[in-house]
Amino acid sequence: MEKGRASVYRLTMTQTLTLRRPDDMHLHLRDGAMLNAVLPESARHFARAIVMPNLVPPVVTARDAAAYRDRILAALPQGMRFEPLMTLYLTEATDPEDVAAAHASGLVKAVKLYPAGATTNSQSGVKDFQNVRHVLDRMAEIGLPLCVHGEVTDPAVDIFDREAVFIDRVLDPIRRATPGLRVVMEHITTEEGAAYAGAGDDTLAATITTHHLVINRNHILAGGIRPHYYCLPVAKREKHRLALRRAATSGAARFFLGTDSAPHPDHLKEHACGCAGCFTATNTLSILAHVFEEEGALDRLEPFTSLNGAAFYGLPPNPGRITLEKGAPAAYPAKIDTGAGPVTLFDPGFPLAWKVL
Ligand code: NCD
Ligand code: ZN
Repeated sequence: MEKGRASVYRLTMTQTLTLRRPDDMHLHLRDGAMLNAVLPESARHFARAIVMPNLVPPVVTARDAAAYRDRILAALPQGMRFEPLMTLYLTEATDPEDVAAAHASGLVKAVKLYPAGATTNSQSGVKDFQNVRHVLDRMAEIGLPLCVHGEVTDPAVDIFDREAVFIDRVLDPIRRATPGLRVVMEHITTEEGAAYAGAGDDTLAATITTHHLVINRNHILAGGIRPHYYCLPVAKREKHRLALRRAATSGAARFFLGTDSAPHPDHLKEHACGCAGCFTATNTLSILAHVFEEEGALDRLEPFTSLNGAAFYGLPPNPGRITLEKGAPAAYPAKIDTGAGPVTLFDPGFPLAWKVL
């Protein structure tokens, strides 16, 4: 009898993994019809997210951020809970006192630096870093983090080298000139990025996306051009993907998840001049569990998704939990419908055995 029971138990035994509810420390929620469609995809699994300000027009002032926050909360379906952590888009006209007041009131958790022209809706970003010195000094004084899109825009620099060159030409000089400035290197894509973040002091951290742990540049270009794998910074060669996997699964406190889930409607991705961005909000946790399991590091998934980012931003970990179960492949749709057109979900290229219960 006992024996029989034990074998039944073994047959039905499933592997589960329970984590603190995660945070997404780099997310594009957009606005209007797109916001309505993508917000539930994040809120289903994530408690909070650092919300990127690259709308048109961008979220520059405290007033803009308060209004955007209200629109996000208004778009949240009944019964869902989600806390948007707001950011300001740094321009050469940014007023340091407005930034300081937005921080003091608790409204704003970071300021985002886009080098002008580096990525989607970055045209209002910074051209001459000398013109934002006084803002960075004020941020260092009050401990407000700067989230950095780390790519140079010099057309003479090869797109695959733009992150490494940015570290030498821009990031390191900014950090030396502004001691104490807290910096998040957003969506690092290179071994140089991982090494620089790994060697910094505790004012420095880096986010890593889901898709950069999965794809290298062959996925975009070999055997046909695949626009849904095109994002910025662009995926690099395989040795860089492996370096990112080592960093993400290292357990080091300075590395944490920022999905950079960046929805664009299919007609703008599948286009002669396709938009940059991978939409990963929906299946990120299934993909990450797969990747961390492959690396023998399932025990380090929770620090990466749920603890390290909160600690860097001075937030308590979320009280709630989520559970993932390993079993039959999780069924995700190929696309989600939005009022702005269909958006294709990032396809990791392998079946996803882990699903969030
Ligand atoms: C982002 C977007 O679409 O807003 N695109 C992307 O490829 N990651 C912008 C960004 O984060 O660079
Ligand atoms: Zn982004």
